[in-house]
Amino acid sequence: MKLCMIGTGYVGLVSGVCFSDLGNDVICVDKDIKKIDLLKKGKIPIYEPGLSELVLKNFKNERLTFSSDLKNSVKKSDIIFICVGTPTKKGSSSADLSQVYNVAKELSLSLNKFKIIITKSTVPVTTGDEIEKILLKKNSKKKFAVLSNPEFLREGEAIRDFIYPDRIVVGSNDKKSNKILKNLYTPLISKGAQYLHTSRRSAELIKYASNSFLATKITFINELANLCEKTAINIEDISIGMGLDKRIGSRFLRAGPAYGGSCFPKDTKAIISTADKFKTNLSVIKSVVKSNKNRSDILLRRVYEILKNKIKNKKITFLGVTFKANTDDMRDSSSLTMIPKLSKKGAFIKYFDPTGYKKEFENIKNVSYEGSIKKALKGSDLVIVHTEWNDFKSINFKSLVKGKKFIIYDLRNIYSSTKIKSQGFKYFSVGR
Ligand code: UDX
Repeated sequence: MKLCMIGTGYVGLVSGVCFSDLGNDVICVDKDIKKIDLLKKGKIPIYEPGLSELVLKNFKNERLTFSSDLKNSVKKSDIIFICVGTPTKKGSSSADLSQVYNVAKELSLSLNKFKIIITKSTVPVTTGDEIEKILLKKNSKKKFAVLSNPEFLREGEAIRDFIYPDRIVVGSNDKKSNKILKNLYTPLISKGAQYLHTSRRSAELIKYASNSFLATKITFINELANLCEKTAINIEDISIGMGLDKRIGSRFLRAGPAYGGSCFPKDTKAIISTADKFKTNLSVIKSVVKSNKNRSDILLRRVYEILKNKIKNKKITFLGVTFKANTDDMRDSSSLTMIPKLSKKGAFIKYFDPTGYKKEFENIKNVSYEGSIKKALKGSDLVIVHTEWNDFKSINFKSLVKGKKFIIYDLRNIYSSTKIKSQGFKYFSVGR
């Protein structure tokens, strides 16, 4: 099929490349001409394991092209995916849909024949209805169908999540376009993916509901970890014990720092805002947002305790600063809260991250990037393991330390407490 992906970020680029790898002709469109030029040279603007190989392969066999000409790209395509950003609106908690609606306006001038127009971006309930209204201003109802097909891609695992999804959700109010989508996804369905056809608004809500539930699960286990620290219980036993119940499931029960990323924080706020608009109180999700917001302060209080409230001039090392491993994404990473607060208390912070220097810290006093783990650890009083990169999992701290041993605070529970303590280090972790 001939597809057009509008927006070449984490969603549009990954989905577009994977669709082309399934044999479709895909044009990835972006209004950022510099980005398109980079993509044409095989330069990928995002860190996603395996993505550049896929881009090069499909670009070479000409199934995948890049363009900044939306109108002509749409005219050449049958199915149009809207994959632009829907960030949280500044000063509010609702989603900023300006990019989506701008694309809809441009699309309304580009419908040379029947098109299926699909929101793949995460959009609040009733956005499809609004897009329909925009298109109807310039086109008859017969010229298009507006569907919702949310993505469930995790950063760092996006290609795997596309090829082996638990489910494909398609929201459409007409049978014909649903049949075309089912055809498009047949290669994944034949490999075992569940295909759910539902109404457009249901599909829009399923996305927010899923992310909000995952955020709830993480916040739940993080709060229980606080209780475990007070009762000499190992939170990992609780996660395993709970997870053996198939109704609960074992995934997303790893205690750690506050959740971050470009989705959970944005989507939990957006669903609350949507519910408020419809005079419905989502009190559980509101408490999740509040609890997660407080989490970094809870962990910082633990840091102050560990350092006996003597933070000034202390040398603190962060191993990892991205919001999770296998991504370079810093959006809403808990390090963005923790590091400035430690700097304000007079600490000297060094950080190492496999994805390199972060501009987010350039204006924070006494924060410096070190190009290796060894340099980052040198002279440290306290080492905070913030992100669960594989690079940190087999460090032999003993061989790296000359002189006074630093304390280790493992926010991701990647080390065995007994092993680290047997090497003579003071070791703290989460919920253990
Ligand atoms: C999420 C959803 O998983 C994905 O389906 C959706 O399409 C986009 O949002 P992503 O934000 O990339 O994906 O990351 P994810 O792996 O879900 O982690 C989100 C946050 O939860 C991270 O901060 C991560 O560290 C944290 N997390 C995740 C935990 O603290 N514990 C866990 O067990 C799992």
